[in-house]
Amino acid sequence: MQVNQRKFDVVIVGAGGSGLRCALQLARAGLDVAVLSKVFPTRSHTVAAQGGISASLGNMSEDNWYWHMFDTVKGSDYLGDQDAIEFMCREAPSAVYELEHMGMPFDSNPDGTIYQRPFGGHTANLGEKPVQRACAAADRTGHALLHTLYQQNVAARTHFFVEWMALDLVRDADGDVVGVVAMEMETGEVTLLQAKSTVLATGGAGRIFGASTNAYINTGDGLGMAARAGLPLQDMEFWQFHPTGVAGAGVLITEGVRGEGGILLNANGERFMERYAPTYKDLAPRDFVSRSMDQEIKEGRGCGPNKDHVLLKLDHLGAETIHKRLPSIAEIARKFANVDCTKEPIPVVPTIHYQMGGIPTNIHSQVLDVSADGAEHVVSGLYAIGECACVSVHGANRLGTNSLLDLVVFGRAAGNHIAASDRVKAGHKALPGDATDRPLARLARLDASRDGEPIQDVANDIRASMQKHCGVFRTAELLSEGVREINRIAGRVSSIHLKDKSQVFNTARVEALEVENLIEVAKATIVSAEARKESRGAHSHRDYTERDDVHWLKHTLWYAQDNRLAYRGVQMKPLSVETFKPKARTF
Ligand code: FUM
Repeated sequence: MQVNQRKFDVVIVGAGGSGLRCALQLARAGLDVAVLSKVFPTRSHTVAAQGGISASLGNMSEDNWYWHMFDTVKGSDYLGDQDAIEFMCREAPSAVYELEHMGMPFDSNPDGTIYQRPFGGHTANLGEKPVQRACAAADRTGHALLHTLYQQNVAARTHFFVEWMALDLVRDADGDVVGVVAMEMETGEVTLLQAKSTVLATGGAGRIFGASTNAYINTGDGLGMAARAGLPLQDMEFWQFHPTGVAGAGVLITEGVRGEGGILLNANGERFMERYAPTYKDLAPRDFVSRSMDQEIKEGRGCGPNKDHVLLKLDHLGAETIHKRLPSIAEIARKFANVDCTKEPIPVVPTIHYQMGGIPTNIHSQVLDVSADGAEHVVSGLYAIGECACVSVHGANRLGTNSLLDLVVFGRAAGNHIAASDRVKAGHKALPGDATDRPLARLARLDASRDGEPIQDVANDIRASMQKHCGVFRTAELLSEGVREINRIAGRVSSIHLKDKSQVFNTARVEALEVENLIEVAKATIVSAEARKESRGAHSHRDYTERDDVHWLKHTLWYAQDNRLAYRGVQMKPLSVETFKPKARTF
């Protein structure tokens, strides 16, 4: 197959919030930057973020970065790296003001300052009382952010490769990353993009689960590429269930609804969160609220004919507030639940929303690997940012609105680090002779016209298995059964072929390539989860119900080869303040 070749200073894979923020920093520094995206940039999944972006602006009442840091560390169930968390919380106000100055249309207060709403786990004075920290553009914050960054990038002359799918990283004999091989989806043409630095910004992989708030494009492509290149995936056992996905549809209903005063009710009309979290109630962190909802349903207090969901009541906020602050929610409730939420509650269930784990990085967003002797080192030429990365600011459970913040803070940090690096000032490293071997072999195997299983049958089996074995509550039996089942499905993935000529369209080819990424993420998740014998954050284990800091205050590293696991320490030392020592989490 003929392979085209292009050269850039930096290639970024993914055009969501982190990719665009990074690209902007680089393009403004005068570098030649290419951004590859499977979809038009403003259709990236960041567009679906609703409730806000956190920053301790203190516009509604007193707030500061240290309180934000405390909430994030506690929210992470102490698995977050405290140097990265301090960095993110300190950078947050400037990152948000920068967006405002770029033209992002935040809602404003009567005095012209940015409107901020309450969110789960956001508190003042180290847990004393709720604080309004989520900077909001109605319930379309991600949409506003993505469009702002895209426009800025167009002005800065970033090169966009739209509807291109990255296939594999190119590593040389030193292990350095020297570019990426990608396919133009429409034509199937393959191009080797040589780069001094390559940035993975491919978002999450929520499509490994059956019920997900994630877009169909979220298939873990960057994670699959990293795994195939021999790099580890960190803390993949930690997946966040968002408490309020529309029952049966999975579409997100923002936590901002509860921030504005919405409440959760069980079949008896009881505001049950008062029992589970007497202080924070409906605004406890997501892992806590999701478990409480699941418990209500399991104990028979679920709603509807199948008693399989609870209700989110917001009519008491009044139609005017709903239409001003939550206009998309009113529309989603009508379209996906057939409910007028100004009059009736919305049926909701915990739904997969976010992966806390990802490709391990340091606070400059450089990708890390660990040698056989346990020594950590940077993978030269490779960065990861956003949901595909694990820096780790979210640890075992992310606080709502820290995801948009993570995107812009670490997107900017990566851009700054690359722009100042010797590597980008030097010439391109030589390409290895086998640069395109792996991706071309993958394509050749798919295109060989032998009988094979329909791609979506295999993808659906991955999703059904992950949903069953790796849910809100996990057990040793479910997890070990899940490991066996996912390993069996992995065998089927490696024999997928595009069945006949009528299937050899690039959409089928793209789906098959995506399934090869999904299975890496599913294996990483189930194997890491099966091994962790404790309950921490979103990993809630019926057979090991307590957090175990003696044995498990550590990050998991999963390697694709032989499903190998290794562990690395949590960075408990912040940059400038005292460590927040692990304590019991009560709300
Ligand atoms: O509920 C939401 O609006 C989601 C926010 C987030 O995941 O950060």
